[in-house]
Amino acid sequence: MFLITGGCGFIGSHIATELVKRNEDVKIIDNLTTGKMENIEHIIEDVKFIEGDIRNLELLEKELRDVDYIFHEAAMVSVVKSVENPLLCNEINTTGTLNLLQAAHKNGVKKVIMASSAAIYGDDPELPKREDMLRTPLSPYAASKISLEDYGKIYNEIYDLNTVSLRYFNVYGPRQDPSSSYSGVLSIFSNEFMNPDPELTIYGDGKQTRDFVFIKDVVEANMLALKRNEMNGKIYNVACNKQNSLLEIIQIMEEITDKKAQINYEMRRKGDIKYSYADISRIKKHGFAPQYSIKEGLKKYFNSLL
Ligand code: UD1
Repeated sequence: MFLITGGCGFIGSHIATELVKRNEDVKIIDNLTTGKMENIEHIIEDVKFIEGDIRNLELLEKELRDVDYIFHEAAMVSVVKSVENPLLCNEINTTGTLNLLQAAHKNGVKKVIMASSAAIYGDDPELPKREDMLRTPLSPYAASKISLEDYGKIYNEIYDLNTVSLRYFNVYGPRQDPSSSYSGVLSIFSNEFMNPDPELTIYGDGKQTRDFVFIKDVVEANMLALKRNEMNGKIYNVACNKQNSLLEIIQIMEEITDKKAQINYEMRRKGDIKYSYADISRIKKHGFAPQYSIKEGLKKYFNSLL
C-alpha cells in the first residue's frame, strides 16, 4: 500500500495518478486546505481518500498500519504565507513531518520519500546549487524544509526507517492552482495568458531566476527514489539544470500564445531568493534525465488549460 500525504494537491495528485497507472494500491491523506477533490476526480474510484491532517498523530498511527511506502507532499508550500504565519508553517511542515516519520517508524513502513525545497539554499551566490553546499534559509518555509531533511536523516540513521529527501526546484504543470497571489508564479502567469490581454505582476525587477521543472519529471524523480535503495538516507536536487528569469519566461509565453503582456512592477517580496539554479549530477547518477525543456513544458501546460 502506498500513502500520499497531500495527495489532492498539485504534486501529490500527479504521483497518485502514476501509481494508479502502475496498478498499485493508493491511499491519500489530505485536509483539503489547499488540495482539491477535483485534482483526484479522475482516479477517485481507484484510491482510498481520507480527509485528515498530518498534525493529527493519532490518525496517522491508525492509517499507516497497512502502508509500505509514503510520498510526503503535504505542506504549507508558500514562502510568503510562511513569512506571514511562521507558527502555522512550523506546525504543518515541521511537526506534521515529524508526526509522519514517527508513525512510519512505529508501523514498520519501508520507505518515506519527502518533498524538500530549493528554498533551503537561500541567497548564497554560488551557482549552480549543489547538495553539499551550506543551507542558508531566508524564510520560515526554508527553515521548515531544513528540519524535514534533518529529521529524515535522523530517522534513516537511528530509527531504521528508509528516507529520501528530494529538493524540488520550481515545479510547474497542469493542476497547479493559480487562484491566489501565493500560488506558483508560472501557474499565475499561464492563467493570465488565457485572457486576451494578459496583465502580470512582477515582484522585484523580473531578473530573478528559477530552475523550472515540469511535473512529469518530478514524478519520475519520485519513482526513481522509490526504486533505488542506494538513494536511501540522502538528499537530491530535482530540477533541469537550467535557469530562466521571469522576464525570459514572459517572453516565451508571449511567443507560444502570440500575445503581449502588460507588466506591473511591485516591491521584491520578503524571504524571496534572487537566483536559483541546480546542479543535478547527483540524481543523474541514478538515472534521472529531465525530459521537458521549459518551452516544451510550457506548451504542454498551456494545452492543458485550453
Ligand atoms: C516555489 C514554491 C515552493 C518551492 C520553491 C522551490 C510555490 C507557491 N512555491 O517558491 O513551494 O519549495 O519554489 O524553489 O509553488 N512572483 C512574481 N509575480 C507573481 C508571483 C510570483 O513576480 O505573480 C515572483 C516571486 O516574487 C519570486 C518568483 O516569482 O521571485 C517565484 O515565486 P514563486 O512561484 O512563489 O516560487 P518560490 O518562492 O521560488
